[in-house]
Amino acid sequence: MFIRQPPVWSPLRVRSIVAATGSLAGGDRARGALRNLIAHRFGAEDVVLTGGGTQALQLALALASARAEARGRPIALPAYSCFDLVTAAVGADVGLRFYDVDPVRLSPDLESLRAVAAEGVAAVVAGNLYGYPVDTAAVRSICDDAEAVFIEDAAQAIGSSTSEGRSAGSLGDVTVLSFGRGKGWTGGGGGALLLRGRLAEAWSGVRPGTPAGRVELAPGGRGAGRAITSLAAWMLGRPSLYRLPASIPALGLGETRWCDPVPPAEIPAFSAGLALRTAADALHGVADRRRTAMTLANALARSPAAAARVQVCEPLGGSDRAGFLRLPVVTRSSVEARALCERGRDLGIAPSYPAALHLLPQARAPQVGPVPELPGAERLAERLVTLPTHRWVREAHVRALVEVVASIETT
Ligand SMILES: Cc1ncc(COP(=O)(O)O)c(C=O)c1O
Repeated sequence: MFIRQPPVWSPLRVRSIVAATGSLAGGDRARGALRNLIAHRFGAEDVVLTGGGTQALQLALALASARAEARGRPIALPAYSCFDLVTAAVGADVGLRFYDVDPVRLSPDLESLRAVAAEGVAAVVAGNLYGYPVDTAAVRSICDDAEAVFIEDAAQAIGSSTSEGRSAGSLGDVTVLSFGRGKGWTGGGGGALLLRGRLAEAWSGVRPGTPAGRVELAPGGRGAGRAITSLAAWMLGRPSLYRLPASIPALGLGETRWCDPVPPAEIPAFSAGLALRTAADALHGVADRRRTAMTLANALARSPAAAARVQVCEPLGGSDRAGFLRLPVVTRSSVEARALCERGRDLGIAPSYPAALHLLPQARAPQVGPVPELPGAERLAERLVTLPTHRWVREAHVRALVEVVASIETT
């Protein structure tokens, strides 16, 4: 088989890329329009556009920890998520506590979070993995009890909502968005920090150019290189050509790698222009992914052999509440997870994050207290595998995906 399915695809048209090159000459208009669109779509009093979601999170952590009442308190992070959460914490120079993640719902283990928050934290970071919903009402109440800031990590949230129908991205005291590779809304890079209430006030006190002047954003530049990589992603990110970029190890496609923190910068002009032009397609892509995810989940459930080998993660509040960037499934063992990723690679089956965050070497120094046991996160690091849900997954691919799951060697 020559085709190779990418594990993930962000809705992107060549005409959006071409139109976004118009922002290269001067990005202020695109940045202003993107800020307005985000503030309106997600309800935010202030929006800071950054070079990436990690940089936005780094600013959020620094801001939450700088509050007089929070000084010296650590930040609570989920023990299973993208490594970039630890990168941001290292960049913001904050202490860390980790809470566990429910390995079926992919949302915070509330008992674990409550215990960590009760010991005193400056902020709680909670986010939507693969677009799976978070019980934000419960997280909000835990934050209120602990007088902690709720940082909503909505980097992967597009299309996700609460059971009351409130959109992810509009729920934290601050919210982080990403327009990076593999997210449902792409700018070929870039991110945003959305500020509300007391955090918006706190930010206006530390904005560059004000006397408090604590945070300086480096200039974002034009981002001409991002125009080229976005064009390459559009062209080569499809099944007929994906084998080519996937065979170049330096690109690290489908791998999770540690990245050192960088000083926060403004979003490049091109990325602002592209995120603006992909904003509508990003929302339209959700319904297609949800349909594919449900077709795949139902097909796995109908095959006794497949159903015995993997458990499909269940979105809180039902599948209408999830954005399904991918379909996450938990295998019976780490050996079976590796076998499934190897045998299903050409079908777009890919490993998830390969380590729990509290066990990363880079998390050792900032971690406050002994390294805890967090069984949900550790189970996910060993056994979570993702199946593709994007526009190129057709009926024949669904059948092939179920067959490969059903035939994983037992150990
Ligand atoms: C959950 C989560 N948070 C934050 C980030 C950081 O975003 P960026 O890649 O734009 O820096 C990512 C990126 O993969 C992510 O998946």
